[in-house]
Amino acid sequence: MCGIIGYTGKRQAAPILLDGLKMLEYRGYDSSGIAVSENGGISMTKAKGRLDNLVKLTDGGKSARGTMGIGHTRWATHGEPSDVNSHPHIGEKGNFALVHNGIIENYLDIRAFLCAKGFTFRSQTDTEAVVQLLEYYYKGDVKEAIAKTLNKLRGSYALGILTRFDPDTFYAVRKDSPLVIGLGDGENFIASDMPAVLKYTHDFILPEDGDIAVISPTKVELFNRNGETVEHKPFKVDWDVESAEKGGFPHFMLKEIHEQPKALEQTLLPRFDGYSVKSDGIEFSKEYLGALKKIFIVACGSSYHAAMVGKYFIERNCRISTEVDLASEFRYRSPVLDENTLTVVISQSGETADTIAAMRDAKAHCSRVLAIVNVVGSTIAREADDVLYTRAGPEIAVATTKGYTTQVATLMLLGLFIADATKSMSKALYEKYVDELKALPAAVQRVLDENVEALQKLAYDYFAFDKTFFIGRGMDYALALEGALKLKEISYIHAESYAAGELKHGTISLIEKGSPVIACATGEELFEKTLSNIKEVRSRGASVIALVKEGREKTMGAEAQHVVSLPALSDEMMPCVAAAALQLFAYYVAAAKSCDIDKPRNLAKAVTVE
Ligand code: AGP
Repeated sequence: MCGIIGYTGKRQAAPILLDGLKMLEYRGYDSSGIAVSENGGISMTKAKGRLDNLVKLTDGGKSARGTMGIGHTRWATHGEPSDVNSHPHIGEKGNFALVHNGIIENYLDIRAFLCAKGFTFRSQTDTEAVVQLLEYYYKGDVKEAIAKTLNKLRGSYALGILTRFDPDTFYAVRKDSPLVIGLGDGENFIASDMPAVLKYTHDFILPEDGDIAVISPTKVELFNRNGETVEHKPFKVDWDVESAEKGGFPHFMLKEIHEQPKALEQTLLPRFDGYSVKSDGIEFSKEYLGALKKIFIVACGSSYHAAMVGKYFIERNCRISTEVDLASEFRYRSPVLDENTLTVVISQSGETADTIAAMRDAKAHCSRVLAIVNVVGSTIAREADDVLYTRAGPEIAVATTKGYTTQVATLMLLGLFIADATKSMSKALYEKYVDELKALPAAVQRVLDENVEALQKLAYDYFAFDKTFFIGRGMDYALALEGALKLKEISYIHAESYAAGELKHGTISLIEKGSPVIACATGEELFEKTLSNIKEVRSRGASVIALVKEGREKTMGAEAQHVVSLPALSDEMMPCVAAAALQLFAYYVAAAKSCDIDKPRNLAKAVTVE
């Protein structure tokens, strides 16, 4: 997804813009650019390809003089990656320059309307239609021109807007695309997310959809489209700058894999008061829980895989029918929703367009929505009825790791909270789970301490394969899905995940001599069944890596060529424990292939378009 950044203050803007764009690289991009107000005009520099190209063109920001500017990393949606299609885009009369994250759905109509008025377009982008519309509507009042332009737009946008009329004031607007306003001392910022400017401030305002922000070095004012003032309370984030930097690791992904014990600790431990789970953001009444008939858990990607684990835990222990759905499917299949349905939406970024739309659909059908998100103040966090934050800290790598494990842990907390309120679980089992959740960070730490070398070696044995199979049953199937996604998204190896019991219904025809199969057999309950499936693939020549609980190595060793032994907690805890091993395996395979691990091709950290 595109990244936007803006600055006004007493310092040179360009180096700060480049700094911020560097922190936004993980969002995925194919070109970049900055625009700086100087000498009563707007100077622009844009470059296709990596951000370094822009840094070189601007001599590290030294060549663009001025204390106010905007910047952009573009993830091409309309028009191929090129200098002319890169942002910022400047209006025909040179009055406005803007950067945009999102999609203007009716840009062709706007272009036709403006061409009929004599405007000409240089790029193929939807964004240029916005800046030209500003030029068209501008009759002397910038805010009025912006309001009129917004009334014409359909789609999603976070905009940073420079005008040549304001030497130190710029504008920002958002609708359905993320935007934060950073508050400094004599300087102010905008960015697509907080880590981009965390180096300069920990104080932020979150504009709502439709707000028009007027940002000068000493003041931030917000207006609605009728020109009325809008107030939003500033808040401080406690993320430290280091957590948004690599901290000596070669990649953010490896750093974040190793941050999981701390992330799990931060997510879990403050929520226990002895054996009770604190509500902490959940306002369910006992009557509501008593009348609850159905739970939907809706998400995308790895968050969907976390949802699958949550389903097993909640359905088994709370005895409430629980269904998991991909957000992009949920919103189009007219699910049966009412006031006795709880919709849980899961999103690390809190900005995934499909999940936002599914949440809004659920709310429109009277279902209460609980969000499990990582980014404070994200769109999903602000629109849900209840919010359970995963306290993983900023996650920069596109491939989620600590985001996923803290989501699974939070779903189990939710399950315990519901089970305790509805008395659906025995005291002994409830307390056992609480003890094990408290032990989870240490178990994951052991995986990281004891398996790196073996997994690195396995990765070097397997990285040349062009396809891999992941199999598992029950929660191990959900784990296998996540393991397959991790591998394919950063190493580009085709990795297919299958319910182990389903293999014989077709896919086993693909197994041949040497086929690599990662078998997730961490669950005790289905261990023997999975062992049979491993025998099935072994008898057809597969090369098997099996993940098991410690104590099961010997049994498995007779079947699988390689066994990864994991700290033994209850079956429900194992997806979190085993995920760390699968993450490391994927990481080292991708490293062996010299892939761009933190910024895999075609992917973005937050998919803010449908
Ligand atoms: C996971 O490694 C991927 N980056 C992707 O599947 C991600 O989980 C998905 O896009 C959902 O993102 P979200 O959790 O921010 O909503």
